[in-house]
Amino acid sequence: MSIIIMHDCIKNKNIVLGVCGGIAAYKSVELLRLLKKYGANVRVIMTQSAREFVGQLTFEALSGQPVCTSIFEENDYVSIRHIDWAREADAVVIAPATANITGKLANGIADDMLSTFMLAVKSPVIFCPSMNANMYESKAVQRNLETLRADGYFIMEPGTGKLACGTAGPGRLPEPADIFDRILSSLMPKDLKGKRVLVTAGPTMELIDPVRFISNPSSGKMGYSIARAAEHRGGKVVLITGPVNLSDPLNVNMIYVRTAKEMASAVFKHMKRSDIIIKAAAVSDYRPVRSSKQKIKKKKDEIVLALQKNQDILKELGRKKGNRILAGFAAETENLEKNARKKLAEKNLDIIAGNIVGSPSSGFGTDTNKVTLFYRDGSKESLPKMEKDALAHILLDRIVEGMVSHLD
Ligand code: CTP
Repeated sequence: MSIIIMHDCIKNKNIVLGVCGGIAAYKSVELLRLLKKYGANVRVIMTQSAREFVGQLTFEALSGQPVCTSIFEENDYVSIRHIDWAREADAVVIAPATANITGKLANGIADDMLSTFMLAVKSPVIFCPSMNANMYESKAVQRNLETLRADGYFIMEPGTGKLACGTAGPGRLPEPADIFDRILSSLMPKDLKGKRVLVTAGPTMELIDPVRFISNPSSGKMGYSIARAAEHRGGKVVLITGPVNLSDPLNVNMIYVRTAKEMASAVFKHMKRSDIIIKAAAVSDYRPVRSSKQKIKKKKDEIVLALQKNQDILKELGRKKGNRILAGFAAETENLEKNARKKLAEKNLDIIAGNIVGSPSSGFGTDTNKVTLFYRDGSKESLPKMEKDALAHILLDRIVEGMVSHLD
């Protein structure tokens, strides 16, 4: 079985970072740092005006390679460098991309190293415009961006807000982490293209009164990793999430819920349009019979809170499963295999990821998880402790393999 590990997909990959002359050029230093941190081999091309904003030495030191600024450098092999780099690139990112480079590339102009290099590029291009809002919104820039989009460039929407020039509006360079995310996505196989993936994440919150609730320590990280990974692989993803403290994955349809009831109605609304459903949410099994409209005052020494069972959303999905792939999680403190297999059968699942909760390396709130996957056919696969991002990809690998063999 193939294993795709998220950050392995960027390790040793050749990424070319093109930096143009904009205030946001300093942010591409952070992007370079991120790319290097995850093992990419980064080559930097700076335009002449980029050098007015950030020092070439900074990029050289961080990339560990000479920075290219001109076609005509005092080096005998340099004249074909733009062709070699273009041939060897796995992905190219231009950040920040100015109005000038946008216009040049849309019209095939090659009058410096970056624009000449770009004409030879065959790999995916992530293009990150950043400029004054009026310039960005101008007809010429919009027309040129449209041309680049049609040429196959992935154009990142700039952020909106107060810009360095004092105006407000679109034009801000996206955060380096978001650009990094799009680079990762460009390197992923698109084996979920055309598939609609529904993911749930996080805890639910059952109100006792307006200021108190029953919940659990689920951080939502597992579900968010799955949603992000599925989107990277080309899936059309809906993420239904309880209250968590995480940034939204890019290009995912987010639905925010609080209670198990709200989660259930959102899930049942979207299930019909889903090919794959992965329930990573830690749903509260019970809710208070009555949720007080007013804050409950402390009077008695002892009070009893009456609870009633919430609907088992996954079990209901299992009843209505049809051809959908259904995956769940089993959070256990003991008898992992017995309990996980029972849930797999009772909820009519294809896969269940069982984990022991409560240990520092696994389960609620951690970045890592150690799970055993149990399959419908009775087999199982014990996975080592790993990042939740990596686990998300393995789970999707298994789902894709299952769908392929199902078609055979
Ligand atoms: N689940 C659900 N609806 C619920 C409870 C759980 O959809 N009301 C789903 C979870 O999202 C998870 C799976 O069922 O994918 C197993 O959840 P877990 O909390 O481990 O088990 P429970 O079914 O709640 O059983 P128990 O609490 O007795 O272990």
